[in-house]
This record gives sequence, structure tokens and C-alpha cells, in this order.
Amino acid sequence: MEHNESRMRRIFSGVKPTGPIHLGNYLGALRNWVELQHQYESFFCIVDLHAITVSQDSQELAARTREIARLYIATGIDPKISTIFVQSDVSEHAELTWMLNCITRVGELERMTQFKDKARRQRESAGVGLFDYPVLMAADILLYQTDLVPVGEDQKQHLELTRDLAIRFNRDYGETFRVPDPFIPKVGARIMSLSDSTKKMSKSDESPNGCIELLDTAETVRRKFKRAVTDSGTEIKFDESRPAITNLLSIYQLLTGKQPEDVEAHFAGQGYAQLKNELADVTVEFLRPVQERVENISDQELDRILDDGRRRAQEIARQTLDDVKRRMGLQGALRARA
Ligand code: TYM
Repeated sequence: MEHNESRMRRIFSGVKPTGPIHLGNYLGALRNWVELQHQYESFFCIVDLHAITVSQDSQELAARTREIARLYIATGIDPKISTIFVQSDVSEHAELTWMLNCITRVGELERMTQFKDKARRQRESAGVGLFDYPVLMAADILLYQTDLVPVGEDQKQHLELTRDLAIRFNRDYGETFRVPDPFIPKVGARIMSLSDSTKKMSKSDESPNGCIELLDTAETVRRKFKRAVTDSGTEIKFDESRPAITNLLSIYQLLTGKQPEDVEAHFAGQGYAQLKNELADVTVEFLRPVQERVENISDQELDRILDDGRRRAQEIARQTLDDVKRRMGLQGALRARA
């Protein structure tokens, strides 16, 4: 463990490049990264090793990985103060996963709801990588001695496993890892699909209108909001028993920065069509500068940022991994330094 207690506290988080980044990813995670990066030393990863736990087209994956890096920057992650890097560029992630595999129980991974959901129909043929996904995620976080992990609600169980593994390793091998806390926002932690308010907005949404992508055109955004499902009743109010309207209001609240009571007052006496129109307007206004910035990041600039990120990330990852190896008796070439 690094004993320099005076260092800045750290955050780590990531997005999986399996599809286009959407409003759920932004409101549940990225938006908070942008805020937190000023108070924490920050590591934002594009987790391509997680992406390959399900089959990917290799060219598409490579392009998507760069697109997500661009979107990190375009939504406000500042590469001068935050480290942006690609997971597979830092081989310590895969290596630490192996060490953590050896202290993880099969039963723990079998209880992971995301694995159960994804492997439901084809359990026998599901890949071992998919099963091991949460351990790779724990390695991501623990390598950087992370204090806080800003994520949406769907990652909560993975964070609990990460904490359990850190505590177990520290108990068995001595204080090595910081035990990280999740940071899950009160509003926005679970943005729902626009076409089915019982499902979260997701990169793999089957309905083409359920998910607002950050690179959607204005026309597409308007169409999707127009088709968004609503609930019975006519009042526009936050109400848990009316999840579709509450979801639309939450998106509006987060994008405008208004208080919930002001949002309700604003829409008092209005109809659903008005809400959808205004929501489309604020979303289009939010996305326009983001999309412009994406266009303006050159390939060379992106290469430089990702190279720099890899170096910064690797320096810390290597220290943690060396420590883990020493503690586990995997001395090898470290023998002289042990
Ligand atoms: P991923 O790529 O599915 O999602 C990226 C982030 O977006 C959040 N999110 C949502 N938030 C609100 N509403 C939604 N509908 C919604 N959908 C997604 C996710 O909670 C996440 O914070 N396993 C992770 C990636 C990962 C990671 C890590 C995260 C790998 N290693 C280490 C943190 C720390 C994932 O698949 O995220």
C-alpha cells in the first residue's frame, strides 16, 4: 500500500465500449465524474477487456473505444487533470485479475445478478470471461488504491464484491488495498428506457427508441422523446407509481439543474406533449456542444491523450501489482528488491 496519506483521494470509473454512450451513462456516471475530477485524482478508463466478454466485431470495438474516449473529453473530463486510458493498454489489469481469481469463490460470482441476467438462456455456453467479469472490475478499481467509485445503481453489487475481495486479501496477505466506497447519485442512478419504464436505458436496448445516444442527431432525439411511453393520468409530477413520467422529469431536472419542485411548477397544467417537446429541446441544447467538441478532437490529439493516460495509469498500477506479487510470494525478478 502506498503510505503517503497526504495524497489526493482517488476515483476510478469506466464505460464498456459495447455500444454508443447514452444519456443513462451520462446522467448516472459521467456527469458526476466531471464534477468530482476537481476534488479527486481521477482515472477514467475505457474498459475494452470487459467488452470482449461478449462477442465483438474487432474493428467496431477499436472504433468505439476511441469514440468513447472522445466523449469523455467532450462531456467535460479534462485530460490535463484526469487520467483517461484504455484498459487493455495496461496489462496489470489482466494480471491482477488472476491473483484475485484465486481468492474469489465460485458461489460469489454465481450470485451476481448481471451474470444471471446475461447468461440466463445459455448458461452452459456463456463464456468464462463473462462469469469472471466482476473480478476484472475489482482489479480495475483496486490497482489504483481507489477511494471512491462513481457509478450508476446497476454496478452496486459489483462494488460490494470489490470491497469483499479487498478486505479478504488484506486479511490474508496484510494491508495491501484501499477498500473503495461506491458513489451512486440520488437522482439519475437508474435512468429508464423511454420505450419501457420497467427496464433501464441500455446500450443493448432492443427498441430503437428507448435510448438517447450522445451522438444522436436533433431529429432523432425529438423522435425518440415523442414516442416515449407515458403513464395513465395527466398530471406531470414526480410519483414513484408513475415511473415513465418520473423518468422524463428526472432527465429534465438533471439537464436543467432545476429543483424538483420548480420542475413540477414549470409543468403545472401542461400536457405530456409539452413536457416531451421541452425535454427534447433541452437535450438537443445539451448535446450540441458535446457533439461539436467530439468533432474537434483530432486523431493525433487523442493518441497523445491516451498515451499519456496509459503511462500515468501504468505507473500506479505497477506499484500495486508489485506489492501484490511480493505479498503472495510471486517474487520472480522482484527477488532482489524484496
Ligand atoms: P457500463 O458501460 O454498462 O455503464 C457505464 C456507467 O453508466 C452507468 N449506467 C447508468 N446509469 C444510470 N442509468 C442507466 N440506465 C445506466 N446505464 C448505465 C453504469 O452504472 C456505469 O457507471 N461494469 C461497468 C464498467 C466498469 C467499471 C469498472 C465501472 C468496468 N470496470 C470499474 C467502475 C469501476 C459497466 O459495464 O458500465
